[in-house]
Amino acid sequence: MSFYDDPRLRVKKGKLVLKNPAISASGTFGYGLELKDIADPNWYGGLTLKGITLKPRDGNAPARLIETSGGIINSIGLQNQGIDTFVEQKVLPLKRYDTAVIANINGTYKEDYFKLAERLDDSPVDYIEINVSCPNIKGGGAVFGKQPRSVAEIVKGVRKKTSKPLILKLTPQVTDIKEIAKAGYDSGIDIYSLINTYPAMAIDVNTRKPVLGNIHGGFSGPPLKPMAIHLVWELKSATNLPIIGMGGICSWEDAVEFLLAGADAVAVGTWHFVQPSIAEDINKGIIKYMDDNGFNSLDELSGYTWRKYNEN
Ligand SMILES: Cc1cc2nc3c(=O)[nH]c(=O)nc-3n(C[C@H](O)[C@H](O)[C@H](O)COP(=O)(O)O)c2cc1C
Repeated sequence: MSFYDDPRLRVKKGKLVLKNPAISASGTFGYGLELKDIADPNWYGGLTLKGITLKPRDGNAPARLIETSGGIINSIGLQNQGIDTFVEQKVLPLKRYDTAVIANINGTYKEDYFKLAERLDDSPVDYIEINVSCPNIKGGGAVFGKQPRSVAEIVKGVRKKTSKPLILKLTPQVTDIKEIAKAGYDSGIDIYSLINTYPAMAIDVNTRKPVLGNIHGGFSGPPLKPMAIHLVWELKSATNLPIIGMGGICSWEDAVEFLLAGADAVAVGTWHFVQPSIAEDINKGIIKYMDDNGFNSLDELSGYTWRKYNEN
């Protein structure tokens, strides 16, 4: 048995069923195969693919990705090939691997999400992640994710078009994450994922111009972790649905921290650019942590600290 198939790593919470809790965060692991020689797709419980839109998008003007203290700012602007060729070219080749495939759908208009869900309904995609939290596009994205009403409208419309398990990807840019989560739950969401990036920008002091072509972008990487842990804990207090936690994970210890706070699975984003093989460390580290601390299943570990402080 390989480390990524260890039965103790199995995730089984509601509609979230994965062989292990390590997921690739959308946009940071391409379409799953680009890095296959150094990061085997089989190491992952699930691969979230780069965000897809109805029509192909060229993305934002360069520069689109810059390094800053502790993390990066990206304004890729959802560059992708569009839905027409997505399933055949990007999803089917992944079906040779033993990992769940998660499509990340995006729209400028609410109807875009409905059409994408309809197109994916009879595809071999295992989950659909509704991205209402992208800060890098002019219309849609995080604009929707900040308003319970638009979240409800989008989720309801998507739910009508597909029976696939639906993941709602939440933005941290909200006053009350529970309010947004409730709108998703009431409208038929199955799983939450959080967090997406924080809006950010940088100015070159020599040219005195913004560094990013799009001026603004989304900040990600290790400094996000404490804020993300806080939001996972908050969300856990409001829901029994499964939670995929992400934001700044760069070690197995970070992954365990998310699990203790209430996540059922974890996604790695920015750290893939530093250590493409991190999923191996995460799974091996979690198994050792379980051995050393007397946990028999991921279910026991997930939400452990949250329960200690929230249940009598
Ligand atoms: C270069 C880049 C591209 C991204 N593209 C997407 C995307 O297409 N869809 C999406 O939902 N999130 C996207 N994200 C956000 C990540 O999936 C993740 O939510 C965020 O980066 C926080 O995790 P991290 O700190 O581990 O990177 C992107 C992030 C980066 C850095």
